[in-house]
Amino acid sequence: MTADWRAFELVGADAAAALDWLHVHVDVLGVLEADDGALQLWLHGPLPPLPFAQVQVRELAVQAADFGHTGREQDIAIRIADDLLVRPPWVERPPAFRGVELVVPRGSAFGSGEHASTQAALRLLHRVWDAPARFADVGTGSGILALYASVRGCPHVQACDIEAPAVAAAQQLMPAATVRLGGPESLAPADAVVANLTAAELHAALPAILAVWQRRSPLVLSGMRAAEVDGVLARLPAAPFAREVVAPFTAVALPPAR
Ligand SMILES: C[S@@+](CC[C@H](N)C(=O)[O-])C[C@H]1O[C@@H](n2cnc3c(N)ncnc32)[C@H](O)[C@@H]1O
Repeated sequence: MTADWRAFELVGADAAAALDWLHVHVDVLGVLEADDGALQLWLHGPLPPLPFAQVQVRELAVQAADFGHTGREQDIAIRIADDLLVRPPWVERPPAFRGVELVVPRGSAFGSGEHASTQAALRLLHRVWDAPARFADVGTGSGILALYASVRGCPHVQACDIEAPAVAAAQQLMPAATVRLGGPESLAPADAVVANLTAAELHAALPAILAVWQRRSPLVLSGMRAAEVDGVLARLPAAPFAREVVAPFTAVALPPAR
């Protein structure tokens, strides 16, 4: 059904953040990124009000040629580490690749590997992975970080998100996992926990995240900008033993308790 398609152009410093937000809140039918960073996207119906100051929106006429775009033309396999990659199902695995592969369709929820905070979280999780028996992902989005645990063979994977479309996407990605609508309070105790949230969200959820984490395997927190890291670290029960920066975001890992 294409009669209700509308096209919009987003420009400005917050355009990429606005697109991330839209992926969580509405069905984004397709996106094209111009060389100058302007984003053209297609939606069913109107653009919801965007909670960002630095983005200018212009509605564009929908052209017949628009329906020929799949919005997937620029999708690629994203190499997170030498032996870890993320790709959507419609992009082939690079022939020489050997390692952990996460196949995540893009579009229904945040987290298909493009975002720097996801990359920092994944890279660190991969580095500190010690095969926990129970894993929890707080703010799962598409389910990408929980999928990492599933692909590595973790037998009990649970995840949560406060957005229903994210819960639906993650459950579809990992039918065997427990995916809850809600915050970390909705999760059972876990040996390892990951949370990729904004610093404000991390601060708000931290007590409940720490209550879930049983300290048998690492805790990985991502989504902090450089100036926000110390404030979060000050509230943690131990110093980090590893960190990864994928600018502008930092991820930190806390060790298991001895
Ligand atoms: C930055 S995205 C991360 C998605 C995915 N985990 C990744 O790394 O790409 C943050 C997600 O956390 C969710 N979220 C925010 N606060 C939350 C909370 N207190 N509890 C659970 N989910 C939350 C948002 O809805 C969003 O889907």
